[in-house]
Amino acid sequence: MNIEYKNESYTIDNVSVSNLAETYGTPCFVYSEDSISKNYNEINNAFSNNKKKVYYSVKANSNLSILKLLSELGSGFDIVSMGELDRVLKIGASPKNIVYSGVGKSESDIKKSIELGIYCINVESFSELERINKIASQLKTKAPVAIRVNPNIDPGSHEYISTGLESTKFGINLKNMMDAFMYADKENFIDLIGIDYHIGSQIETLGPFIEAVFSVAKIIKELKANNISVDLIDMGGGLGIDYGKNKVPLLKEYGEALNKAIKDNKLEDYNIILELGRSIVGNAGYLLTKVEYIKKDSEKNYVIVDAGMDNLIRPALYSAWHNIICTKTHENKKKILCDVVGPVCECADFLGKDRELIVEQDDILVVTACGAYASSMASNYNSRPKPAEIIIKNKEAKLISKREEVKDLYAREIII
Ligand code: LLP
Repeated sequence: MNIEYKNESYTIDNVSVSNLAETYGTPCFVYSEDSISKNYNEINNAFSNNKKKVYYSVKANSNLSILKLLSELGSGFDIVSMGELDRVLKIGASPKNIVYSGVGKSESDIKKSIELGIYCINVESFSELERINKIASQLKTKAPVAIRVNPNIDPGSHEYISTGLESTKFGINLKNMMDAFMYADKENFIDLIGIDYHIGSQIETLGPFIEAVFSVAKIIKELKANNISVDLIDMGGGLGIDYGKNKVPLLKEYGEALNKAIKDNKLEDYNIILELGRSIVGNAGYLLTKVEYIKKDSEKNYVIVDAGMDNLIRPALYSAWHNIICTKTHENKKKILCDVVGPVCECADFLGKDRELIVEQDDILVVTACGAYASSMASNYNSRPKPAEIIIKNKEAKLISKREEVKDLYAREIII
């Protein structure tokens, strides 16, 4: 954690939280460049070599400065839309360092990816494979693909992010996958380069990851028995982070455990990639918010703040728990049991429930572990502009996304 309490005030990478709130206004997101670099380097050092590489999963946080930082650190990119593709190209990444997943790729998405020459399209259905073959034939080229299999492994996370279960829309189930591999192997306009899986997100134990490596090794044997060979294994992402109440393996431990599983299954000769998002940026971000009111007239105490579910939807959507720190100290004041709620008109608009805080009106609160799936999932619900984003680089705050203005919200609308 880069948030620290010293000399009676809170700092993020040595920059005062209250100064940040004053300078940039609240709500705002603050990121630590040191944390992002440290996380990336930790997994890169433990895992990568000339055959193994980390691809940052853009959906976790797609701010251009963060993408540029990761590109400079040597990361590849895992994208799921043309919007994400545009962002990654904008910061100068090579298409050769991009893999493209997602169940709903349109004809034009596929055409653009083939024309650009991205490294690999991760195919999630038989009909997608047929579509890719048709488009590649029109372009008179071969499309590089990996088949995303669904290994039916329970990652033990929230049901909305447990993508490795057969009952989800992701990947091709084990019983159908061989048809897809055979088709991809024989068709002229498809270059079958790999096998791909992603079993879920916020996975807190190593077991499911190891199980998945064993499962893919078994599939590769089956493919060999059918004279089909691949040289890429995309192992997806999913390592969880510590939100303050849960335990997770270190990135280093995760990398080492994967290395061992790769060795145990004699997969060292394959090109292997990881698509990590949350574990690289998650604990590097904070949401700063101001207390507008404290309301004590019902059975509960409500601490009403200026950030809401439009800024951080994780508590509402996944019952996710984020730590909330009050940055002001109040001598002789008692803790209150409270729900920290936003101004949005929904009962689901809360950042935390049943918290014990010593808090007063106008205090600045910090919601921790907001680097991943916070700003990237933000909305404009209730016509609320998106907050500013700031990164701390060499102990200095830099604005990396301006606060939206209300006029930006209706700029595309037409009054008739
Ligand atoms: N690869 C694929 C194909 C994915 O679908 C995902 C995440 C990742 C990689 C990166 O997973 P990570 O390393 O970040 O766990 N909004 C949810 C998480 C959704 C994850 C979606 N897919 C949340 O806030 O918990």
